[in-house]
Amino acid sequence: MKRFLLICLLTCAAPLAYSADEPDLERGAQLYFFCGTCHGQAGEGNALLNTPAAGKQDTWYIERQMVNYRANLRGYWGPLEDIYGNQMKNMAIAQVPDEQAIIDMAAFMHSLEPPTLPITVDGDPEEGRKIYEETCIACHGPNGEGSTLLGSPRISNQFDWYLLRQLDDFLSGARGQQPDDIFGTQMRYMAQVLDTEQKRKDVVSYIATFQFTEQPD
Ligand code: HEC
Ligand code: HEC
Repeated sequence: MKRFLLICLLTCAAPLAYSADEPDLERGAQLYFFCGTCHGQAGEGNALLNTPAAGKQDTWYIERQMVNYRANLRGYWGPLEDIYGNQMKNMAIAQVPDEQAIIDMAAFMHSLEPPTLPITVDGDPEEGRKIYEETCIACHGPNGEGSTLLGSPRISNQFDWYLLRQLDDFLSGARGQQPDDIFGTQMRYMAQVLDTEQKRKDVVSYIATFQFTEQPD
């Protein structure tokens, strides 16, 4: 069933001739070596390069993002308006030899350990908790573990500054503004609740307190 949903997500997002073969972890590791120059070879990310962590992100989420970057559904603004999204879009186009590569790399990235990351955003986690429990928990889960069923990703074990930047991007329209981006559009709508910088910092500070938790079955 999950595989079926994935195929639908991928083909709905981009009309590609798609053969969903089993992931080849070894090939994924080889292909990921280049990605690791920014995302870290252990998936730990790189604050100096403004690159998010990759360890333990869901395979379907990674695959969807790669498809979206390639289809210009993410990173669609120019380098002056959205430098990081644009950079990653170019990588997704230039560094993916075939569609199977996305499946192989996603499986390898998921196999990496969840990183433990420093706190850098100075929000109020207690205020953030209120916002999170009111608005975010329904889709992202009590520990930010995400929901495969709802298509909402893990947001725990990710850099706080990266999460903050994504919320800013959803609000500015740098992310989630393409009509064909069903999930990004949904999150852009939810982000409207966070209408001050303080609220965005608070909620991110609360998310930063989560310990890695598996999704319930
Ligand atoms: C030059 C540095 C660089 C390289 C090389 C690179 N990335 Fe990225 N990647 C980024 C940056 C920066 C972002 C954040 C983009 C943004 O803020 O929108 C990103 C974002 C992503 C995301 C989205 C993560 C999320 O939480 O939504 C995925 C998935 C991803 N990269 C996978 C890859 C894969 C797979 C490769 C190798 C084919 C790769 N990246 C190579 C810099 C890089
Ligand atoms: C209706 C379900 C839903 C709700 C409620 C929701 N989100 Fe999301 N969120 C999503 C989906 C779906 C995505 C993935 C979008 C995509 O694929 O580009 C997402 C993505 C994100 C991302 C980007 C993650 C990454 O790795 O790039 C952040 C950060 C985020 N959400 C934070 C929040 C916060 C904070 C709240 C509460 C204010 C919230 N979300 C409420 C569904 C939801």
